[in-house]
Order: sequence, then C-alpha cells, then structure tokens
Amino acid sequence: MTTNLDTMAAGWLARIDASADLAALDAVRVAALGKQGDITGLLKTLGAMSPEERQETGPRIHGLRETVTGAIAARKEALERAELDRRLATETLDMTLPAQPAPQGSVHPVSQVMDELAEIFADLGFSVATGPEIEDDWHNFTALNIPESHPARAMHDTFYFGADKDREGKRMLLRTHTSPVQIRTMTSQEPPIRIIAPGRTYRSDSDATHTPMFHQVEGLVIDRGIHMGHLKWTLETFLKAFFERDDIVLRLRPSYFPFTEPSAEVDVGYSIEKGRRVIGGSEGWMEVLGSGMVHPKVIEACGLDPNEWQGFAFGCGIDRLAMLKYGMDDLRAFFDGDLRWLRHYGFASLDAPTLSGGVGA
Ligand code: PHE
Repeated sequence: MTTNLDTMAAGWLARIDASADLAALDAVRVAALGKQGDITGLLKTLGAMSPEERQETGPRIHGLRETVTGAIAARKEALERAELDRRLATETLDMTLPAQPAPQGSVHPVSQVMDELAEIFADLGFSVATGPEIEDDWHNFTALNIPESHPARAMHDTFYFGADKDREGKRMLLRTHTSPVQIRTMTSQEPPIRIIAPGRTYRSDSDATHTPMFHQVEGLVIDRGIHMGHLKWTLETFLKAFFERDDIVLRLRPSYFPFTEPSAEVDVGYSIEKGRRVIGGSEGWMEVLGSGMVHPKVIEACGLDPNEWQGFAFGCGIDRLAMLKYGMDDLRAFFDGDLRWLRHYGFASLDAPTLSGGVGA
C-alpha cells in the first residue's frame, strides 16, 4: 500500500506537471479528485477498513489528496501567470492615442430656421443674398432714405466703430438690420429681383427678448407691376409653410418705415392651447415682421427708375420665429452656448428641412 500510494503520488504529480494548459490541468483534477476520481475512490475504501488499518492508511491517503490538490493549485497559478505574460508581451494599448467620443454636435435652432427659410423661399423662386455685417453709413441708412438728421437713426441704437471710416469719412458700423442687403442687391444685379437675406444684425439692447446680436431675414422683390397683394400673398404662403398650419391669419397694420411706402406691420394670430400661445387662429395677435412697398427714393438711390420698377420688402426676426415655432421663451439662452440647451433644442445634423419631408422637426 505504501509504495502503491507513493507511485500514485509520483504519477499524479508527473501528469500535473505535464498539463500544458488550464483545460488539461482541469481534466487531471477531475480524474484525481472529482466525484469519480481515483483519489476520491481511495478515500471511499477507508470505511471498509479495520480501525487499525484505517489509522495507518487514512492519513496517508489524505496526505496524497493534499499533495495533489496543492500541486494542481501551484500548476494552475503558474499556467495563469504564463498566460498573462504572453498577453502582456503580445497585446498593445497605445495610451497616447486621443480618446474618440461619439460626435455630440447639433444644429442650432437659428441655423435650422435659416435653412427652413431658404427652403420655403426657394420654392417661391427666391435666392439667398448676403451682405457684410460691418457696413457703411450709406448702405445701412442713407440709401434706405434715413438721412443723417432722421430720428430713425437714434431708434436703432447703432454700434459704431471708433476709428474706421468709410469713403465719405463717416464711421463704419455694425449693420442694425438686414435692409442694407436690399441696397447691395439692387446696385449689383438687374431686376427682376427675388431674394431673401438672412443674417446677423446688431443693436445696443439687452433683455429677455433683445440681445445685442440677433438675426433677421430680409425679403425683397423688385419687378414690374408689383403691389401689396403680392406682398400679402407671399407672407401668408411663407408663414403657413413655416408654421406648418393652414389656419394662419395675418393682420396688416399701417406703420412707418423710412424705406417703405406704404408700410405695414404684420401680426400673426394665435390661440391659447393648454395655457400656451400657439400660432394659428385669431384669439390674439403677435407682431412678427415689418414690411411695405419699397420707397421710390430707395429704388432711385440704387440707380433704378421707380416709374418702371416697383417692389415690396419685409424684415423679420429669425430668433423670434424660432422661439414661436419651437417654444423657447428666453432669447438670451440662444447665445449662451450651454450644451444642455443645445442638446434639448438642437437638431440632428443630417435632418435637413425639405418641403416634401416637412420643414418642421
Ligand atoms: N429693417 C426693418 C427693421 O429692422 C424691417 C423692415 C424691413 C421693414 C423691410 C420694412 C421692410 O425693423
């Protein structure tokens, strides 16, 4: 029995040593110590032995089991360490590579609305025109029939540049409206003209509904025989497409702008739904834009004959359009750059507005 157990121990130790990987080692463990294993079997013989025999052989069998258990644990650890060493030697992780988070950008509601405007007016035959944000006095004021002494200049709270002067020696300024693009278009292209001009505008003003930089869209049509009916139809068609509702009601109020005659301020009707103002219906009125027939003096200033060419123009706050359509109530948040606000109100970059797919979101 003694030699028998000794040879068995040597045999198991040799098999353990020869196990090339964890799977082979586990097979040896099962064969020796599993329920049907050889050593487990030996332990079961103890019960049938005489007390003397058991006293003599018992510790030796237990000893065998411990030796084999210990050898398996040691071999297991060695195999695991070898496996780790192998992986450390072959796998690489370049810690200097920049992290690549998923793109998080979104389209700002102002950009979204500008895209929507371009889409709607393109369908009506308008192209998009642009002009500089740093303007000269003539384009921003004089050509628009706002002479130097005109009180409208004071109304505009203009930001002037200190040193930069235009050719007439007047200070350059940040354009106070998109109307100078009317002038730039009429002086650079032949009528008929159909353009919209979205862009940034500046006035020294700041509260919940005014920011020093804001956005406007200008509209201009110059052709023969243009009258206010064309203006009203165009605005109605535009606002219905923009708000995606057929029950848009417009109210044209007589008003005054130096560059249009007659002039009209345009209100759009709203109704109250669940305590909120919703565009559509006519429970109340909200002013959305200024408009009118282009003043003959403006047409003349651009070198065109007002007896031949007439037109209408309108100007509209883009930020306000966005607020009305998408339900924001503080304009200042538009320009805070707060990512939480942008995540909430922004638009997916590939979700471009189309008339067929809906210019809304
Ligand atoms: N420029 C005017 C403003 O900023 C709006 C306007 C544009 C009015 C065109 C009439 C015609 O208030």
